[in-house]
Amino acid sequence: MTKFTINGQTVSVDAADDTPLLWVIRDIVGIKGTKFGCGIGMCGACTVHIDGRAMRSCITPLSAIADSTIVTIEGLDPAGQHPLQKAWIETQTPQCGYCQSGQIMQAASMLKDYPHPTDTDIDNIMSGNLCRCMAYARIRRAIKLAAI
Ligand code: FES
Repeated sequence: MTKFTINGQTVSVDAADDTPLLWVIRDIVGIKGTKFGCGIGMCGACTVHIDGRAMRSCITPLSAIADSTIVTIEGLDPAGQHPLQKAWIETQTPQCGYCQSGQIMQAASMLKDYPHPTDTDIDNIMSGNLCRCMAYARIRRAIKLAAI
């Protein structure tokens, strides 16, 4: 059994040590906002917070998160009122929307270190989160709006 906290709830999971956290979150815990994109840590769709830092859940094995605190997009603000979520809506940032939970989780982690990020900060830190709709300009605008 591996015990951890996810979105404020403590859970114990009985699965192989190498089970990717993404599958634990989606298929065992049953929280679906975190998305599968590439499965090899290259696209950012699966980004969650592990002990407060943005991490790729598809390449994080269950064995690495024992006693950790996980936050997914559903737990970022249970009311959906995180400044980034409000800014995302105000700027109509998503197109297809598939990558957006990962984008927001990466951005939320960035704002802890860079509360007023420059364009360069955003480009550098968000560059690993891919968007097939090319919504990068709106993503940047939303992050800056949230950072005001
Ligand atoms: Fe994890 Fe792409 S699905 S980085």
